[in-house]
Amino acid sequence: MNVVDSVIREKLHSHVALIRQVSEYIINSGGKRLRPALVILSAGAFGYTGKYHYNLAAVIEFIHTATLLHDDVVDESELRRNKETANALFGNAASVLVGDFLYSRAFQMMVEVDNMRVMQVLADATNTIAEGEVLQMLNCRDPDVEEDNYLRVIRFKTAKLFEAASRLGAILGNAAEEEERALAIYGMHLGTAFQLIDDMLDYSGDYQETGKNLGDDLAEGKPTLPLIYAMRAGTPAQISIIRKAIEEGGQDELQSVLQVIQQTNALDYARQCAQAEADTASAAIASLPDSDYKTSLLQLATFAITRNH
Ligand code: IPE
Ligand code: IPE
Ligand code: MG
Ligand code: MG
Repeated sequence: MNVVDSVIREKLHSHVALIRQVSEYIINSGGKRLRPALVILSAGAFGYTGKYHYNLAAVIEFIHTATLLHDDVVDESELRRNKETANALFGNAASVLVGDFLYSRAFQMMVEVDNMRVMQVLADATNTIAEGEVLQMLNCRDPDVEEDNYLRVIRFKTAKLFEAASRLGAILGNAAEEEERALAIYGMHLGTAFQLIDDMLDYSGDYQETGKNLGDDLAEGKPTLPLIYAMRAGTPAQISIIRKAIEEGGQDELQSVLQVIQQTNALDYARQCAQAEADTASAAIASLPDSDYKTSLLQLATFAITRNH
């Protein structure tokens, strides 16, 4: 991961000072570097001994960072990684444009790997993430969004990049077709579990631990699983509190929404769903030969559902 970080730093270079300023600001704010770790671990699990996994791990982190820059603009978020978001500090225009710089730098870097399969996986993932974010935008302020629709959004906007990261390691390691598929399934379910927990933490986390403001999802009127379940399990009065909060957005109703979430045990339900996803992820790679890499991949599945940051 130290090598990955040095690749990231080297490839952030631009002659345009504002690009360096914004991109270094967000990259230096930290972040868990989970997705690049997936590339490294997956490549290791298949005995890869080359160097392209460092580049592809950096590519994945650049794509992730670009989506965060754009996501914080559309979500109007002000806090990320315990710091002001780039949009809060530098403005929306700078965030959008530097996000584009990072996307296109990622594509320059993946061309260097000169492998058509790799290009295909990353081009598809990037395209799917964009679809997921647009689908989510269409769902905002709509209290009739159902669980399968919500799940589709999170598979697209989040799980697809986890899937790509895990798959790329397998491709580099010349995995057999069914092994590559196993890693892709692992990544997809891991990413789904990860986003399910992210959406829970938006109602139950500690902003100092998550590094993000709570209630951002409600402010946007996002129908995430805790709300969808609360509307399914609630009394008519409880349902109408949630419906109204989604339709109107904003944070005025946050306290009454939190109360309904608690009364309907909606967070327990979301956690059970995340647990099931993490279990499916682990099961997908159960037949890989034992190695420290495999153990770490399995531990990441546990981390995805026990994390509070
Ligand atoms: C944030 O991802 C975006 C989501 C998909 C929830 P991470 O929680 O991995 O963000 P960093 O990189 O660690 O800040
Ligand atoms: C993030 O979704 C997904 C992408 C960045 C594509 P969220 O909007 O839930 O992530 P946070 O909570 O802002 O990190
Ligand atoms: Mg967001
Ligand atoms: Mg979120």
